[in-house]
Amino acid sequence: MAYGLGIESSCDETSVAIVRDGKDLLSLKVYSQIESHSPYRGVVPEIASRAHLEKINSLLAVSMEEAGINYSDLDYVAVTSYPGLVGSLMIGAQMARCISLVYGIPIVAVNHLEAHLAVIGLEREFPAFPWLGVLLSGGNSSIYIYKGFGDLEILADTQDDSLGEAFDKVSAVLNLPYPGGPYLEAKAKAYQLEKGEGNPFPKLLKEDGEEKIRFSYSGLKTAVLYYLRANSEAPPVEKISYFFQKTAFELVTRNIRKAITKTGIRTVVAAGGVLANGTLRESLEAEKERSQFDLFYPQKKIYCTDNGAMVACLGYQLWKQKSFVGLDFKVSPKRNFEQII
Ligand code: KG4
Repeated sequence: MAYGLGIESSCDETSVAIVRDGKDLLSLKVYSQIESHSPYRGVVPEIASRAHLEKINSLLAVSMEEAGINYSDLDYVAVTSYPGLVGSLMIGAQMARCISLVYGIPIVAVNHLEAHLAVIGLEREFPAFPWLGVLLSGGNSSIYIYKGFGDLEILADTQDDSLGEAFDKVSAVLNLPYPGGPYLEAKAKAYQLEKGEGNPFPKLLKEDGEEKIRFSYSGLKTAVLYYLRANSEAPPVEKISYFFQKTAFELVTRNIRKAITKTGIRTVVAAGGVLANGTLRESLEAEKERSQFDLFYPQKKIYCTDNGAMVACLGYQLWKQKSFVGLDFKVSPKRNFEQII
């Protein structure tokens, strides 16, 4: 039996988890800093790192007690080392170093983006590699070719705003609370579509052919802004939300179709905060039927947003490969950070 601790502190969630054999979740604690950042409608790095520092010890103590183990029982400590806010990553990294130093436990440094995709291992057996890893979060709209643990290659990326960012910015202009995703989703759900009603927003990136695969949401954001200005007397918030989602998710499913055609890979794993959106899940399910591929995404919404369980889960696979790092390992804001070992 192997016990692993996962530590996540890359952005605005402080989270720790204890996992047995890479799949049995014994404890998961998440402290969300949303309240501290919402007056600024975005994550303030200095506030984030201070909050991690304040919370991490107590989360660890509660988690250890809940799991019923001691630090000396741990086989590895996995920690997010990139990408993320450096000041925030450093808090988790320093905690991992302390535990490693005191108890002689190996450290596994984890790529946050890969962990989002690998979290499905907590809910089912991993499908056979390669996968198309579709990451839709506050910082990313991208598709990876995921060849094996620790081995990802980027296939498609965003040119500007990520999907989560677009949700947050559009919800801001609609006067919805921060972070906007769940509120905008609720407004969209409340919309009664009229028969034959057309989409007021243009299809995204329609100039791209079959070969080019990329994301871009800034044009949609601008279209929403203009539509809102033209309807400023009585802003149709539900209608805008509905068609915003429809337009945004159409680009996701189109890009998945293109990625399958380009690579021949028919295993799609989708993850990240935006996967908490029920309409997106339905769109992906519908696309799966249409285009005939195997689709996986985290069933539990807590596994969509940042969490320590995904770090411990991926950490187990890397620990089995003996991908350890020394106490002097680095953290990085960069997504393609390679020099961690
Ligand atoms: O993966 P994540 O927790 O962290 C970062 O990337 O920082 O993603 C956060 C993003 C936010 O932009 C948030 O608005 C979005 O995920 N999000 C949603 C929903 N829940 C969270 N977007 C759409 N619909 C939702 N229900």
